[in-house]
Amino acid sequence: MKEFFWESKYDIGIKKFDDQHKQLIEALKDINNAMEDKRDKLAIAQVINNLKNYAKEHLIEEENFLLEIGYPDFEEHKKQHEIFKDKLAKFCDDFNSDRYLLHFEIAVFLKNWILSHISVVDKKYSEYLKEKGML
Ligand SMILES: [Fe+2]
Repeated sequence: MKEFFWESKYDIGIKKFDDQHKQLIEALKDINNAMEDKRDKLAIAQVINNLKNYAKEHLIEEENFLLEIGYPDFEEHKKQHEIFKDKLAKFCDDFNSDRYLLHFEIAVFLKNWILSHISVVDKKYSEYLKEKGML
């Protein structure tokens, strides 16, 4: 699979969140490496584990932040995060049911998430902050 790189257009301008978002690029790299040996079950387990931590840390921190700033589209944003968590739970179920050849599926999901959530939906709160002079 073609390597996917972080581009500055995905930055939202809050370093902590940009750094956390970049963890998804790392996950994509890990998947790419695991593609070479798809029987490497451990590698995909590690990716799923990292994504669980991402959801636990980043998605929750982002939600708390959006609540703190009184972000008007909070509910809609949170709904999207729920979709991420549901999808991740599905990957976990598949993995635990021994359907662990999830490399391609997870990679496509992460790329779409970067392109449609981070660079569109997350970008909206960044614009909101700029409008309010908070960023
Ligand atoms: Fe988000």
